[in-house]
Amino acid sequence: MSYKLLINIGQLVGVSSTQNPLRGNDLKNLSIIENAWLLVENDRIHSFGSMQQMTVVVKPEQVIDINQQTILPTWVDSHTHLVFAESREAEFVQKIQGATYAEIAASGGGILNSASKIAQIDEEELYERSQIRLNELIKLGTGAIEIKSGYGLSTEAELKMLRVIKRLKEVNDIPIKATFLGAHAYPLKFKENHSAYIDLIIHEMLPEIERLKLADYMDVFCEKGFFEIEESRRLLNAGLKHGLVPKIHANQLNCFGAVELGVELGAVSVDHLESMDDASIKTLGGSTTIGTLLPGAAYFLRMSYPPARDLINAGAVLALASDFNPGSCPSGNMNQMVSMACIQMKLLPSEAINAATINGAFAMGVHQEVGSIAVGKKANLILYAKMPSLSYIPYSFGSNLIEAVMISGSFI
Ligand code: NIG
Ligand code: FE
Repeated sequence: MSYKLLINIGQLVGVSSTQNPLRGNDLKNLSIIENAWLLVENDRIHSFGSMQQMTVVVKPEQVIDINQQTILPTWVDSHTHLVFAESREAEFVQKIQGATYAEIAASGGGILNSASKIAQIDEEELYERSQIRLNELIKLGTGAIEIKSGYGLSTEAELKMLRVIKRLKEVNDIPIKATFLGAHAYPLKFKENHSAYIDLIIHEMLPEIERLKLADYMDVFCEKGFFEIEESRRLLNAGLKHGLVPKIHANQLNCFGAVELGVELGAVSVDHLESMDDASIKTLGGSTTIGTLLPGAAYFLRMSYPPARDLINAGAVLALASDFNPGSCPSGNMNQMVSMACIQMKLLPSEAINAATINGAFAMGVHQEVGSIAVGKKANLILYAKMPSLSYIPYSFGSNLIEAVMISGSFI
């Protein structure tokens, strides 16, 4: 056994062993121990408490004086598209110059642009590029991450992406979940025959993914012109038969029943939610499905933000994630997402931190492992510089206040 004792922690934030995600008014309940100690045993949190009553029964190999700095559990990013081949900053400039979505698509841009790059890239190279991105995010405090396929759009290329995610799972010592997003867009060849692509997903991709155990969840881009409600229902029901729990890209562009579908199917989360009406807010609020907000995408696409306060008032469970991808959010910095949630959606700092940690952990099924400071959870911690108060984290947007990140009991 190896023990590390952290002493004089100014604020130990996110102390919770809740067995349920935080809903509605409870989202703001963020528990903090001032002037704390924490004992790490190997890769796990062994015990913790207030410095006034330190009861450490073992002899630690290392005693680390935290000097009144702040410690948080690492961020849980429950929605990303981290595995992609190339960035798309040319489209970014085209959009600045006024190009529309249709024009960008016509000039070979968008999801299909990323798909043609995935088709060409060597699997080893795809893995290496993805690993570099993941390393950057871990240094920014991400200690668990969900990663989607969906830039393959053929059986071969979807499997290539999922194998890369599987390798990331094996190599990295943080919880990673894989989500199959074959239903992200229609490949050109199926532009006029949507049902044939849906059949391909159901009859060819899903059986192979189950056989090779390549995914934990299934996601669908449920939007008008992409995967309509009935098509999404058929796809996600097929996924369920292959053991994949549903998630949905819902209500990003249209409010036409995607949230309701997610609730009906028992989706773990419905993500985006920029376009909500009273009925969809009420439905989500009364359900156990988590609403995952992605402020980075709304920011980058200059869209209106999800109605976070209305969702909280309706009793919904909210999580916060990055949506890291080359098209609509080329940042996976969760510190920025927390800041944006406070600035643009008026979440309280405590609400945003809970949404980006414990509720994110529930949104990717890793709540027994990470998401809070609790005995037995992984010692995945962020050490922040000394600050006047916790609100300083979202307030000082753009600053990197992180001094160190601990993953599985070791500072990286
Ligand atoms: O979550 N909305 C759909 N999918 C991605 C963006 C896709 C892309 O442009 O590459 C998203 O925002
Ligand atoms: Fe997304």
